[in-house]
Amino acid sequence: MHREDFNMLLTDTIYFDNGATALKPKVLSEVISDYYNNYSVNSHRGDYDLSLKVDMAIDRVRELVRDFINADSVKEIAFTAGTTASLNQIIFGYYSYSMHSGDEVIITEAEHASNVLPWFELRNSKGIVIKSIPLDNNKVTLDNVKKVITDRTKVISIAMVTNTLGDLRPIKEIVKYAHERNISVIIDGAQAVPHMKVDVKDLDCDFMAFSAHKMCGPTGVGILYAKKNYMNDMYPTEFGGGMNSYFELDGSRMYSNIPTRFEAGTLNIAGIIGFGSVIEYLNKIGMDNIHKYELELKDYALSRLKEIDNIKIYNENTDSGIIIFNLGDIFAQDLAVYLNKYNICVRAGNHCAKMVHDIIDVNNTVRVSLYFYNTKEEIDKLVEVLKNPNIKNEII
Ligand SMILES: Cc1ncc(COP(=O)(O)O)c(C=O)c1O
Repeated sequence: MHREDFNMLLTDTIYFDNGATALKPKVLSEVISDYYNNYSVNSHRGDYDLSLKVDMAIDRVRELVRDFINADSVKEIAFTAGTTASLNQIIFGYYSYSMHSGDEVIITEAEHASNVLPWFELRNSKGIVIKSIPLDNNKVTLDNVKKVITDRTKVISIAMVTNTLGDLRPIKEIVKYAHERNISVIIDGAQAVPHMKVDVKDLDCDFMAFSAHKMCGPTGVGILYAKKNYMNDMYPTEFGGGMNSYFELDGSRMYSNIPTRFEAGTLNIAGIIGFGSVIEYLNKIGMDNIHKYELELKDYALSRLKEIDNIKIYNENTDSGIIIFNLGDIFAQDLAVYLNKYNICVRAGNHCAKMVHDIIDVNNTVRVSLYFYNTKEEIDKLVEVLKNPNIKNEII
């Protein structure tokens, strides 16, 4: 689908590393160059027309993001540098104040580092307790969530789709159950928002984080969604220009209203404006169409990969375009380097989810992660290369 929109797909590159970052449609660089060439001034600082044009462009993107995830208000949308920055702001700006020694957070062992390490820091500094949901055949179930909830549970912080197992969590059910017990829910949407329609109002989650670069947008731009009451109660973790209304030497100060209170310093203006253009681009294709196509492609990829002797697929029940595997006893990185000879880009390693080895019993895997511009022909090529009977000799 839409391959002609991507310069990199006009070459013979087969790009299967979309879980790491997605390719960029031409419209992104056009919109970004337009900003740099024609109105590259700062935002929310000037009283001249060019500055107002930038302000309006940023406000417009905030509204596009609000609409994209169906948030109630633009006040619930803050621009950050990415999912990692959003999760850190949420955890250190809200939970480091509201959680006390012995309070519990629930995660899983399949979470990305950015949804684990900040909690480790709170465990060290505040004595919070981290619990993990046991998985059923790689999946989170509400029954298993219930097993780890106690009267000290304050928050559940999980990915909607994980970046190694590719499983889609039953978020709506979990949120409902959690809210009945006064437990809040943070969703790491990094691998979900780019691939399917995600509606924060329908899910009713309290926080959500995601990155522009995984959805055809620029690097260095992310979104922190928080329900208005949480936005109001959260404390900033970065301080400086753009997020205050006044300050005096005696320390008196007032921070700006939400959401700009969480946007200290000059924003990645070009990136944000570019992000707006890819949201419009994705909307034109339709998120439901993207999701449907990716699931078809995933089923095709699984059925073709299973033809290969000696392949071990660790997540045949994946709910997304993420498939992890190994081939015989070939070290995952060696296989990735071998595939590179055929211009096939995959990821090998632990994919920043370093505790996942407890679930799949192996440290390193090869990951194929699909997006809407991938094709069955590309999967056929991958399978053909993996079927090479001399593969081991060629790797050595
Ligand atoms: C599930 C998940 N969470 C968080 C992140 C971190 O995203 P970023 O590096 O854009 O901050 C990633 C990136 O791979 C991810 O896959």
